[in-house]
Amino acid sequence: MQTDTFPILNTQRLRLRQLTAPDAPNLFRLRSSEEYCKFTRMNKYTSMEQIADYIKRMDDSYNENTSIVWTITLSSDDNHMGGVCLFNYSSDGKRAEIGYDLIPEFRGKGFVTEALNAVALYGFNEMGFDVIFADIVSENVKSANVLDKSGFSKIRSRLELDENGTSTDMTLYELLRKI
Ligand SMILES: CC(C)(COP(=O)(O)OP(=O)(O)OC[C@H]1O[C@@H](n2cnc3c(N)ncnc32)[C@H](O)[C@@H]1OP(=O)(O)O)[C@@H](O)C(=O)NCCC(=O)NCCS
Repeated sequence: MQTDTFPILNTQRLRLRQLTAPDAPNLFRLRSSEEYCKFTRMNKYTSMEQIADYIKRMDDSYNENTSIVWTITLSSDDNHMGGVCLFNYSSDGKRAEIGYDLIPEFRGKGFVTEALNAVALYGFNEMGFDVIFADIVSENVKSANVLDKSGFSKIRSRLELDENGTSTDMTLYELLRKI
């Protein structure tokens, strides 16, 4: 599953590479935004120290083979535009969850769909997963569009309660390996 060197993925317009310290300002823009935290259900970050810690944790989890995060850049430069990750690997190594984001000025250009397709292919062919799933806030129409366009099937919706007693309508999607 794990390779010695981080797998860089190239697509028609994009280069997907390992997350690095210079990505921190754009990561902070995402992780400190209300909209982003609502749709990803992540805690809002308030300091650059939290981002540095996040980058370190993602590095560790890649080395421990528990998740892999790619930074999305254009093929023509190295600037962070967003990310795609595989995480939540099942104990039998057959399923992984996918997550993705883009900073706002790069949305609406098909970049995430292009990146997600490359990562899914890598997950199936090189990491050996049979199923890649996404669990999204049902209200997140832009995310649902990405999954529809990438061939994911909607499995089911459910209400999920968080620790504050707030319920969120979530929808599970799956993409199966093509034999
Ligand atoms: C979810 C998110 C990544 C979607 O971003 P996005 O830019 O809409 O997705 P894509 O990069 O695939 O772009 C798709 C759009 O680009 C358009 N597009 C323009 N040029 C295109 C091209 N050459 N190829 C493909 N699509 C193109 C598509 O028509 C589509 O527009 P539409 O949504 O109006 O139909 C983004 O909204 C986001 O980062 N949200 C916050 C984080 C989040 O919610 N993450 C998901 C958690 S599960």
